[in-house]
Amino acid sequence: MQLRLEHVTKRFRETVAVSDVSVTMENGVYGLLGVNGAGKTTLMRILCTLAVPTEGRITCDGEDIFEMDMRYRKILGYLPQDFGFYPDLCAEDYLMYVASIKGLRPAAAKKRVEELLHRVGLYSVRRRKMKKLSGGMKRRAGIAQAMLNDPKILVLDEPTAGLDPNERVRFRNLISELSQERIVLLSTHIVSDVSYIAKRLFLMKDGRIVHQGSMEEILEHTPVRAWLCTVSKERTNACLKKWKVANIRAGSGGNELRVLSDLPPMEGAAEAELTLEDVFLYYFGEKAGDDDALL
Ligand SMILES: Nc1ncnc2c1ncn2[C@@H]1O[C@H](COP(=O)(O)OP(=O)(O)O)[C@@H](O)[C@H]1O
Ligand SMILES: [Mg+2]
Repeated sequence: MQLRLEHVTKRFRETVAVSDVSVTMENGVYGLLGVNGAGKTTLMRILCTLAVPTEGRITCDGEDIFEMDMRYRKILGYLPQDFGFYPDLCAEDYLMYVASIKGLRPAAAKKRVEELLHRVGLYSVRRRKMKKLSGGMKRRAGIAQAMLNDPKILVLDEPTAGLDPNERVRFRNLISELSQERIVLLSTHIVSDVSYIAKRLFLMKDGRIVHQGSMEEILEHTPVRAWLCTVSKERTNACLKKWKVANIRAGSGGNELRVLSDLPPMEGAAEAELTLEDVFLYYFGEKAGDDDALL
């Protein structure tokens, strides 16, 4: 399966939410990385035919997805960023309900729901009301509903928002498992969620894909280097103003700053290996989000 976006642009009055995006996806996991307002949700909604691009086109194995219409929706699974669930339904009934909306026959739906409950690790809590599930469990129920029709294309918008570290690990494993023989596109502002599982990353900024490739390719082609500099506590503030600092670690002899710069920022600076977090800071001018900072 091949999904191809050519010069996709979406304008809302003055805002250009998505600007001239051309990317091709084949089976595997793709990570769409960008800060809030970058255009990730808009791009995903277009991919799910919930919004129409102002310009450009999207094809699935050569056919326009808007012309395919229901045939395309049949092979699509979507977890919206603010996915609605029915708080008083239990996980199992919720999934049965979505299955009926999606047109699965009751017998097939029952079998599929049971299988998915096992797969996402919710079988033991299947009779628990949705509102009583933890954040991670709710997300997994959301992923399960997107998987009901065994989609060839799975679009997950910020599926890790609000998850604790354990849940994040579990989520990564689940996505890796689900990515066999389908395209999985997931958006996030958290670098570590995608850097290990995505075979390709799209860095999105102000509606544009500013960089794409495997993690290795992105690291190799980002024109900046990382340096470790030890400065006294008194000098730290001045350095923070002057330099792009990715991290600070307090030590006995002062603070060790991780600085992004083409050239060594000071004498005695030691070069460090560039990480995807550095790249994120370089392109977006802010740290790869942790949820606390952005929610
Ligand atoms: N329906 C809409 N009408 C007007 N502007 C919108 C609409 N949807 C999104 N936008 C704008 O498009 C930009 C991208 O938003 P969005 O796609 O939600 O980004 P992200 O998901 O990366 O946070 C933002 O500036 C947002 O305000
Ligand atoms: Mg969004």
